[in-house]
Amino acid sequence: MVGIGQPVPCVDGVDRDYVDLDAAASTAASAFVRTKVDTFLPWYSSVHRGAGYKSRVATAAYEDARAAVLRFAGRDPQGDDIAVFCRNTTEAINHLAYRLRLSPDDTVVTTVVEHHANLLPWARVARRRWVECDASGVFDTAAVAAALDAGPSPRLLAVTGASNVTGWLPPIDEIIDAAHDRGVPVLVDAAQLAPHRPLPSRADYLAWSGHKMYAPYGSGAPIGPRSTFSEGDPFLAGGGAVDLVDLDEVIWTDPPEREEAGSPNVVGAVAMHAAIDALGDVGWSAIAEHEAALAIRLREGLAAIDGVRVLGPGPATQGSGSGHETLAVAAFVVTGVHHALVAARLSAEHAIGVRHGCFCAHPYLIRLLGLTESEVHAYRDGVLRGDRSAIPGAVRASCGIATSDADVDALVAAVAAIASGEEPPVAYVQDRYTGDFWPEGAAPGWSEDDRAIGASCARN
Ligand SMILES: Cc1ncc(COP(=O)(O)O)c(C=O)c1O
Repeated sequence: MVGIGQPVPCVDGVDRDYVDLDAAASTAASAFVRTKVDTFLPWYSSVHRGAGYKSRVATAAYEDARAAVLRFAGRDPQGDDIAVFCRNTTEAINHLAYRLRLSPDDTVVTTVVEHHANLLPWARVARRRWVECDASGVFDTAAVAAALDAGPSPRLLAVTGASNVTGWLPPIDEIIDAAHDRGVPVLVDAAQLAPHRPLPSRADYLAWSGHKMYAPYGSGAPIGPRSTFSEGDPFLAGGGAVDLVDLDEVIWTDPPEREEAGSPNVVGAVAMHAAIDALGDVGWSAIAEHEAALAIRLREGLAAIDGVRVLGPGPATQGSGSGHETLAVAAFVVTGVHHALVAARLSAEHAIGVRHGCFCAHPYLIRLLGLTESEVHAYRDGVLRGDRSAIPGAVRASCGIATSDADVDALVAAVAAIASGEEPPVAYVQDRYTGDFWPEGAAPGWSEDDRAIGASCARN
């Protein structure tokens, strides 16, 4: 990975090697991806627009990347499905929500476990029906089947392939089969799944992002049947999506170009292709084995600390047959210490990068934290007043293929110190507007002047 071990300043004035435990937000860039992009850049030119030699090379690289994306999703590039390049999973799902041509009376079944990217686009175009989770944050295929069977019959099941909060892997193949048995097509939000496990090839629609799979060059992709994109207006209107335009007429071209108005992000596509090749070289079984061991180390290490509660289902321990399959992701709370302060201290004192808050999955967090309706209302009132200081949440540590046992052990030791009541070396102040904490002092990287470049996390 590019930037592994990059020293970052800590509040005691010492530079320490960065411990990246935020892969679920964005992974580091793969060195292989960077090399492939660097090799391509001398050939960089317009795609599907230029007659020059470089445009031919760039267009070929772009279309090769599209074929690789389809193969990655278990599709035959010559088959019925198409891949559309876009910016990220959020755009991919919004694109699909537009292109499925739902009406306000149609129903989409989705789940309370979803990231907002797989909740909000559906709210705009249809009614939603929910699959609830139990207290540990999971649901089974029977619960999905019951939600599908409750009338009216849904037009789509939109479900995550892996939770970005708990790392839980729903039994996705079984769920897809249950939906197909009922004639309901399935969209799998594969943002978290794509870097860790093979994509479910039987899903009718898929969406994921390059920046979560070691290719941070701004690409993502929805995948779906060509027929979804063949009729009606494309999601974006503009150049490249048309065959003919007069002042009062447009003849759209065929998909996938029909769906890619504007100059495409060829560098992002080349990067995504390289990431797919890199993951293929490592192999899914090696990835799953490495990350399964990390998942257990992470969760058991955190759970053993007095005053730490790890949210969500536990991973299956080897040979026990119990537990759930999870990615190496753990969301946790430390009794008596604000999640934003835990995250700030991990960063400022230990050079450990995690995320805190509600992880763009508010309904799921409300359930995992067991918040009552009146608590939720009180927090809502605070947010409406512009005060996010008491907003509930958790800290999330998440691993990828480059995470080591030492990274996880460093986190566990630092969290144990914080949970034990160890005094911080400096005072921390909270910004009520963002809810974030900031260490006081003048150490390089942490002084008053450095705050402009961002606090430890974001408002949401
Ligand atoms: C499960 C899941 N879905 C969707 C998204 C949105 O991805 P992006 O921010 O790349 O659009 C994320 C991002 O964290 C995610 O974890």
